[in-house]
Amino acid sequence: MQVANTLVDLRNAVKTWRLAGERIAFVPTMGNLHAGHIKLVEEAKQAADKVVVSIFVNPTQFGVGEDFEAYPRTEDADKQKLQAAKVDLLFLPSVAEMYAEGAKTVISVKTLSTLHCGASRPGHFDGVATVVNKLFNMVQPDLAFFGQKDYQQLAIIRAMVNDLNIPVEIRSTETVRESSGLAMSSRNGYLSPEHIQIAPKLYRTLCTVRDEVLSGNKIDEKIEKAAITSLNNAGFQTDYLNICRQTDLQKAEQQDVDLLVLAAAKLGRSRLIDNICFSLAR
Ligand code: PAJ
Repeated sequence: MQVANTLVDLRNAVKTWRLAGERIAFVPTMGNLHAGHIKLVEEAKQAADKVVVSIFVNPTQFGVGEDFEAYPRTEDADKQKLQAAKVDLLFLPSVAEMYAEGAKTVISVKTLSTLHCGASRPGHFDGVATVVNKLFNMVQPDLAFFGQKDYQQLAIIRAMVNDLNIPVEIRSTETVRESSGLAMSSRNGYLSPEHIQIAPKLYRTLCTVRDEVLSGNKIDEKIEKAAITSLNNAGFQTDYLNICRQTDLQKAEQQDVDLLVLAAAKLGRSRLIDNICFSLAR
């Protein structure tokens, strides 16, 4: 596996492949890799001739008081995992390599960026969209892979690619879970042994909400509120739990068919997010 720390090295490697007519897939990450990230890499391997993975803990997507400093950085272990997964190139830039001093341009995907997680993390999705756009320009991949675990992020990237005519195909990968149902996340490492026992309740609660809607219950705030109360009683501090439409992530109406329940909740130091997609047979 080649490792490029600079844009020049990255461009040289990618140029050679492109001249040889090879298809390039890209998996952007912030590192501390787990089986969810590796699933994206495996799907990328299947779909292209060469796979580029980036590891960059992006400061612009962390708010004041969030965990940018504490975010787990496990470079050596990550390199081993990527090597074992037969990744062709790891792009590992510094903050200075990614952001020129005085950079003035921000990509903001309106509306989608202010719902759900965007409401409690102002500016977060602008940081995500901007860095992903920059990474796309740097790597110039044919395909890029994102996890459904971060459903809102995926929707924002798709909208950005569509709105800005970025020549990359976005593919999504199902959420990889622990056997308990807990969605794998780099932030699960913050959970205490006691909280690890409680954490799977987040996914179980999403499943309960889905089952209630599937069994014909009216989609309303009552279902959402009951789920939030049940999470809070178990020890979570729930930020939101919303039933919405898959298409635009707006509040679901009774006639909507393709639905998504998504939630974010704090458990100790960790802010967990998860979601579940389902469709009503009408
Ligand atoms: P990170 O949290 O490292 O996630 C990198 C990719 O892995 C994202 O597409 C995410 O949705 C996916 N992923 C995370 N957990 C997963 C799981 N349990 N199953 C399947 N896929 C999973 O998301 C980011 O980094 C950043 O915001 C980034 C896009 C790299 C921009 O900085």
